[in-house]
Amino acid sequence: MTYDTISVKPMTPHIGGLVSGIDLNRPLAPAVARDLHAALMEHQVLFFRDQKLTHATQKVFGENFGRLHISVGGDGTNSKQLSDYPEVRALHFDKDSKSVSGNEMWHTDQSCLEVPPMGTILYIHTVPPKGGGDTLFASMYAAYDALSPAMKRYLEGMTALHDGAGAFARTATNALPITEQPVIAKHPVTGRKLLYVNPTFTTRLCGVDRDESEAVLGFLYRHCALPDFHVRFRWEPHSIAFWDNRCTHHLALWDYYPHTRSGFRIQITGTDRVIPA
Ligand code: OGA
Ligand code: MN
Repeated sequence: MTYDTISVKPMTPHIGGLVSGIDLNRPLAPAVARDLHAALMEHQVLFFRDQKLTHATQKVFGENFGRLHISVGGDGTNSKQLSDYPEVRALHFDKDSKSVSGNEMWHTDQSCLEVPPMGTILYIHTVPPKGGGDTLFASMYAAYDALSPAMKRYLEGMTALHDGAGAFARTATNALPITEQPVIAKHPVTGRKLLYVNPTFTTRLCGVDRDESEAVLGFLYRHCALPDFHVRFRWEPHSIAFWDNRCTHHLALWDYYPHTRSGFRIQITGTDRVIPA
């Protein structure tokens, strides 16, 4: 699809669009915000280059798409809420970091919440000198579409438990939520069906015994990890990724130790959660 106010280059057949012709430090005209939202619905994750954001302009950009969400995870060694800007988290990895951020495993952000954030805007200003620290995104529409008809029928109507302990047990100070989510969900805006389980948070298929749950989830996690459904983003200084958290998984590579990778993240409140298919 083409847009009136921005240009968006598809990066793979299934997922990812590189946006140009925009300056995110300026307030967006309503038509531009509408085009960006439509492009996000189409491509599921949007990428931007050469955008030097301040905390204030990152927040203003995010507010075009909803209220900002305050993360439930607590502070970790590599991820901290800013005291002046509680909606902004600093992500910082360097020679003192250990590979324990949790982001190196496939996940969608905070699916343990009844209403997970609908989107995340990650701004990376400092990247390792020889590359590394790429982020991979997977389309859960494409993953759903590629399931066999028999597997789709089996999963339809099932639910699964998403447990916050999977990601936050080390850092959380508040109670960790556990939520039952549909396994096959419908996107509240596009109406497309998607697969909604991820290996970081989903612990159990409901209504079947433990062996069956482990076998089926194991199959689904291998399926979602097939490269056919992925886009891999190579960061440059001052790049941005803006993902729809409802229909994608992501993971960060930890292949650049002891170099530095650093940036800031905000999230948008999930007023429209995924709905059972
Ligand atoms: C996140 C996340 C990935 C990255 O911020 O939720 O998973 O590439 N980040 O840093
Ligand atoms: Mn994440």
